[in-house]
Amino acid sequence: MCGIVGYIGEQQAAPILLDGLSKLEYRGYDSAGIAIFNNNQIEIAKAKGRLSVLAEKTDNGNAIKGTMGIGHTRWATHGEPSDVNSHPHISMSGRFAVVHNGIIENYASLKKKLTERGFEFISETDTEVIAHLFEYYYKGDIMDAMIRVINRVEGSYALGVLCSDYPDQFIAVRKASPLIVGLGEKENFIASDVTAILKHTRDIYYLDDNEMVVLKKDGVKVYNKDKEEITKEKFTVDWDVSAAEKGGYEHFMMKEIEEQPKAIRDTISPRIKDGKIVLDDISLTAEDIKNINKIYIVACGSAYHVGVVGKYVIEKMCRIPVEVQVASEFRYCNPIINKNNLVIVISQSGETADTLEALKEAKKRGARILSIVNVVGSSIANASDDVIYTWAGPEIAVATTKAYSTQLVVIYLIAAYMAEKLGMLTSSEYTDFISEIEALPDKVAKILESKEELQYLASKFFNCHSIFFIGRNLDYAVSLEGSLKLKEISYIHSEAYAAGELKHGTISLIEDGTLVVALATGKELFDKTVSNMEEVKARHAVVMGVTTENREISEKAVDYIIEIPEAHEILLPSLSVVPLQLFSYYVASLKGCDIDKPRNLAKSVTVE
Ligand code: F6R
Repeated sequence: MCGIVGYIGEQQAAPILLDGLSKLEYRGYDSAGIAIFNNNQIEIAKAKGRLSVLAEKTDNGNAIKGTMGIGHTRWATHGEPSDVNSHPHISMSGRFAVVHNGIIENYASLKKKLTERGFEFISETDTEVIAHLFEYYYKGDIMDAMIRVINRVEGSYALGVLCSDYPDQFIAVRKASPLIVGLGEKENFIASDVTAILKHTRDIYYLDDNEMVVLKKDGVKVYNKDKEEITKEKFTVDWDVSAAEKGGYEHFMMKEIEEQPKAIRDTISPRIKDGKIVLDDISLTAEDIKNINKIYIVACGSAYHVGVVGKYVIEKMCRIPVEVQVASEFRYCNPIINKNNLVIVISQSGETADTLEALKEAKKRGARILSIVNVVGSSIANASDDVIYTWAGPEIAVATTKAYSTQLVVIYLIAAYMAEKLGMLTSSEYTDFISEIEALPDKVAKILESKEELQYLASKFFNCHSIFFIGRNLDYAVSLEGSLKLKEISYIHSEAYAAGELKHGTISLIEDGTLVVALATGKELFDKTVSNMEEVKARHAVVMGVTTENREISEKAVDYIIEIPEAHEILLPSLSVVPLQLFSYYVASLKGCDIDKPRNLAKSVTVE
C-alpha cells in the first residue's frame, strides 16, 4: 500500500526522499511523487510507474533543490494509476501539498461541498479533498487547519503536509494508518515504516491515532487534538541496516526464506528459560487461562493460515475450543463474544486494516486480545491487551515466509504454555515438547540445504496451469499456505483441499498430468492421505508427496517425494512449509515473475 517519507534538515531533500521511497517499494505501488519546498514555493514532481521513472525525471532528485519535502508511493484506490492521480496533491492556490496513505470514506460528500464553494478538482482521488480542505480551513495557523481537517474527514489516514507559508517546518498526523517519526541530528523524518529512514536514524517516535507532529530541522513536537504538546517515548530500533537490504540475494524472498532458522531461534530463545516457557510479554495468569472457554484466532492471508494450524494445535494440547476466522469476515459476522473468550490476532505488519478493525470489534465486545505481531509499536500491537512479538526482523518480500514461520512458533509456545498451566501435559511431555521446539531452527536449516531438489522439481512443473495441494489436519493447514505462496508469486492457479474432501467435487478437475502436491507428514492420518494420493494418481495426476524421512510411500501413490526431518507431530508444519516456499520461489523465478513485488499485491494492506 502507499508509502510516505518526509524530510527536513540541511541536506538536499529530494534524493533522500527518493532513497527512502525505494525502501518502501516492497509495500506495493503504481506511481510516485515528491513535493519540495524550494525558492519559497512548493515544487512537485510525480510519475506513473516505477520509482525509477521519477528518479529519471528528476536526475535522482538532484534537479530539485530544497531541504524540506514529502514523498509518496501510491497504490491506487480512487482513480487509476496516472501522473495526475499520483501524490502529492496540491490545493488550488498551490499553498498546500499533501501525501496520504489510507482512505477518506466521506470524500464524495466533501468533494461536493468543496465544489459548490468553487474548488476545482483535477484528480479522481480522495486525497485531493484533503489538500482543498486545508486551503478552506486555513486562517493563518496550520495546526488549527489540521485540527479542523481531521475533525471533518472520516476513514483512515497518514498525512504529510507542506505549506508554503512555513518554510522551516512541515506537519503530519495519522489515524489507523502507519506513520512514524525519525529523530536525527539537525534533521528529522516521517515514514510509513522504519526501513525508509534506518540509514539516517534509529531513534523513533511511534505516533498514536490523531497525534499531530510538527517537524523542524532542530526538533519535533507532538500535539494532541486539543493542540496540547505531549511527551512521547523515544524508541531505538535495533535492526541492522543490512536486515532491510538484499545482501547479494537476487530477491528478498530467498533471503528471508534463508533467514528462517535465525528468525525462529530469535523468537523462541528469549522465551525458553531453564527448560520452561516464559512469556514475560503477556499478563495472562494461570487463573485467566483456566477461565478461557473459547479462543478465536483472527487474521488475514498467511497469518490466517497460521491460525488454522493454531486451531489444531491449541485444541489438541489445551482442549479449549478454537474458532479461526479471516478478519474481513469476523468483523461483520456479529461475533458471539464474552469476557471469557481470548482473541488471538496475528499480523506481520501490525497494520492490516481488516485485522485491526476485527480486533477493535472483539475488544468492544469484551474479549481479551493477545496479538502476535512483527512490527514493534504498530497499530495492532498498540491496541492489544498483550503482545508477543515475532523477532523476524523486517520482512520486505510481499509473500511472507519468515514472519509466517515465527508466527507458527509463537503459536506453539502459547499452546504449550497454556497446556502446562491447565495441567494438560506431564512434565516429561512438556520438557520433550520444548526441546523439540528448540530443535526446529537446525531442522529448517537442514531442509534449506536441499534447495537444488526443489529447483529441479520447479523446472518440471513451472508450466502447469493449475496445481492442487492436499493434506489432512495440520497437513491441510500447511497446504493452504503452500497453495497461496505458489499462486501469489507465480500466478499459477492453485487450490488447497482437505485430502478427504477432494472426492466430494474437486476431483473432477484432476486430469492427465495435473500436479497434486500431497502432504502426508502426520503419523495418524498418513495411510488415509496416501489413499487419497492413490485416488488422484489413478486419475493420472502427477503426485509430489511431502513426508518425513524414513517413511515409505509406494509408487502407486506418488511420483516424486520430498522428505523433511522427523519432529514432534505438532511441530511438523514448521518444516513442511519450507519446501513449499522454495518450490513456489523457483517456479516463479523460472516464469520470470516479479517475485518480491507480485502484481496487484501490497505488503501492508491498510485499506479494507
Ligand atoms: C501472503 C501474505 C499475506 C499476509 C496478509 C496479512 O504471503 O503475506 O497474505 O499474510 O496480508 O498481513 P499481515 O500479517 O501484515 O497482517
